This record gives sequence, C-alpha cells and structure tokens, in this order.
Amino acid sequence: MIDAARRMLADGQSVVSFSGAGLSAESGVGTFRDAQDGLWAKYDPVQLASPEGFAADPELVIDWYAARRRVVGDAQPNPAHVALAGRRDILHVTQNVDDLLSRAGAEQVIALHGSIGFDRCHGGCGHTECVDMTDPPGLLECPACGAPLRPAVVWFGEAMPQEAWDIAERACRDCDALLVIGTSAVVYPAAGLIGIAKSAGAGIIVVNTQPSEASPLADIELLGPAGEIVPKLLAHN
Ligand code: OAD
Repeated sequence: MIDAARRMLADGQSVVSFSGAGLSAESGVGTFRDAQDGLWAKYDPVQLASPEGFAADPELVIDWYAARRRVVGDAQPNPAHVALAGRRDILHVTQNVDDLLSRAGAEQVIALHGSIGFDRCHGGCGHTECVDMTDPPGLLECPACGAPLRPAVVWFGEAMPQEAWDIAERACRDCDALLVIGTSAVVYPAAGLIGIAKSAGAGIIVVNTQPSEASPLADIELLGPAGEIVPKLLAHN
C-alpha cells in the first residue's frame, strides 16, 4: 500500500496535502477530539473557541489560549512536518493553527483556520501582531482602536479567511493527488476539500491512526502514525 501511494504521489503533476491535528499529535500538541487534559478538562473547546465564549469571559479564553500557546511554543516539528516541508512542490493546506509546518521550513502553507502565533483586533480594525508563544500575553487592548485583541484563529461561528479558502479549493479542484493527514474530517467547510478533490478525479491517500470520515473517500488508506508513514511516502527514491 505504501508503494502504491508513493507511486500515486510521484506520478501526480500537482499534489496537495490536507492536514489536521493528528499531524501535530506526535509533537505533543493535543488533538481536538482527544479529551482535554489537566485543568482545562472541565471546559468545552467549542465554547471557549467562540465569539460568545470570548464575550462571556475574555480572560478565561485568553488564559486557555496562553496555555495552548505554551504547548505549541515548547513543541518541535515531528518527522511528518519535516518530510512535508521538504516538498516545495506540494501545497500544504492545514486546519491546524500551530506553526509547526512553517517552523519545519514549509513555504506554501495555507492555514484555513488561522494561526495561534498571531493576535488580531476583535473589533475588526485590521490590526494584527505576532505573539511570543513561549511567553504569551494576557488580555490586551488593540493599540489601534482599543477593542480587545484575540488569537488570529477562526472560532466556531466565524468565517474562514476567504482568500485561504479560494486558494485551497482551487488547488484541490486541480490536483492529481490529495494527501490527507491526521484529520477526523468532520468539520466543514474544510473537510469538504476531500470531496472536491475526489470529484475532480484526484487520487485520495489518507494517513490516520484510525478510520475517519475521510475513509470512504480514500483510494489508499494507511493506518498508523503520521510521523512514521509520511516520511516513507515522501522520501525520494
Ligand atoms: P481531530 O481531533 O478532530 O482529529 C484528529 C485526527 O487525527 C483523528 O482522526 C485521529 O485519529 C488522528 N490522529 C491522532 N494522532 C495521529 C497521529 N499520530 N498520526 C495520524 N493521525 C492521528 O482534529 P481535526 O480533524 O484537525 O476547527 O479537527 C478539525 C477541526 O476541528 C479543527 O481545525 C478545529 C476543530 O474544531 C477549528 O478550530 C475551526
């Protein structure tokens, strides 16, 4: 199966990778569907990662992101990130808000759900600023307009950045092979990219530790950790 997948990727003129939290799991960054650990176990991520949650308790939401930022700041790219980053010919579309693909050196990264490495103005004035993930800030006011700053990520109920979606959708429509890595494929519209690529005739390779909603669309499904499988798939002959 690995050889068939390697051939599909090698034969593809245009290859896109589409990744979820499972890509970063071996870097120690928890996935969404894993039970939340520690003091955050009693909170529902869907509630915290939302405009309503932020309006209800902005300090709590910022503290939650500060904890997640420290985890990401301390994490290192794993062999799957490094293998993907080594392929400049592949467009990397990710649902992840961590910066591990970019830190591994990947250049073409489309972050559909934004980046936890930046804050942006919640008032919509357009101000954004980089965040030190090893020493994340508390609740801050936008220096341009005074509204609160919040992580530059897509919250539940918020729209995905249109330009990112347009690039990702067009790439999935045009690709010959889509490499789907570490996603439960349950959150739309992002998960819809798999069906878009499939309908356009692309070969679908799925890498996951367990079956997922992507399984029915897979031409080849490789069950196992991304950190072991992805380097084998992308290694040069
Ligand atoms: P999930 O937590 O829903 O799914 C993670 C997937 O990775 C699961 O299918 C696991 O089986 C798989 N997995 C775990 N460890 C793995 C490993 N070492 N190697 C390969 N696969 C592994 O995370 P996502 O699918 O990314 O949305 O979730 C999609 C979206 O839901 C997120 O972007 C977020 C969340 O709500 C927003 O933030 C808007």
